[in-house]
Amino acid sequence: MRTKLIAGNWKMFHGGASGVELAAEVARIAARVPNVECVVAPPFTALAAVAQMVSEIGEQLGHRPIGVAAQNFYPEEKGAFTGEISARMIAEAGCHWVIVGHSERRQLFAETDAFVAKKVGVAIENGLHPIFCVGETLEERGAGATLEVVLRQVNAAKEALTAGKGGVVIAYEPVWAIGTGKNATPADAQEVHAAIRAALEPSLRERTRILYGGSVKPDNAAALLGQPDIDGALVGGASLDAAGFGAILRAAS
Ligand code: 13P
Repeated sequence: MRTKLIAGNWKMFHGGASGVELAAEVARIAARVPNVECVVAPPFTALAAVAQMVSEIGEQLGHRPIGVAAQNFYPEEKGAFTGEISARMIAEAGCHWVIVGHSERRQLFAETDAFVAKKVGVAIENGLHPIFCVGETLEERGAGATLEVVLRQVNAAKEALTAGKGGVVIAYEPVWAIGTGKNATPADAQEVHAAIRAALEPSLRERTRILYGGSVKPDNAAALLGQPDIDGALVGGASLDAAGFGAILRAAS
């Protein structure tokens, strides 16, 4: 059985004290929801403070109620890369997770399949759990190329997925469903998730968690999460409200 994972990608919101507050609220809610793993991904500037706070709550509770993810990193160890942050720095900030290859990175920052695949590998080498994002654009879906595009993106990272031994989480996020209020129907998402799973190496197939992302809200979460190959959600907008995010956690529970 794959434990459901609900991850909140805060994007460029809550980088300071409000991020620590939001994470504390989410941690308190998550501590009361059984059988679901929860991760939040604040901006870089809040990472260390959020990780510290989560670790303190974890000491009080005897377990960490949520994990902390970075939203990105640069896949070199160190050097003259002004403005960039390495995987090791993210780990040193107290994070155990990192989002890799989000469509906003691919589209706005020109990240290619090969670059994203490299990042998945470097994240693993540094002991981070990658949340590796794939997904087609509206144009690609319209052209009937959804599976071709998504499987191309997955296959580009095959080596890293193997190195991750099932620990890499894949997030299917159709680009046209991100922040638009349009979400894939549970059946459409399930079809893509099943195809991704089938494309994985046999030893990874049953272990790999595949999340759905794109306008996941409290009112559509249960139907999506009820699909056999949907193992959780990567939530954007709805993760900025602790109560709503909590409702998604409960839907997964
Ligand atoms: P929305 O939930 O706001 O559509 O964002 C999805 C997303 O991009 C999560 O990474």
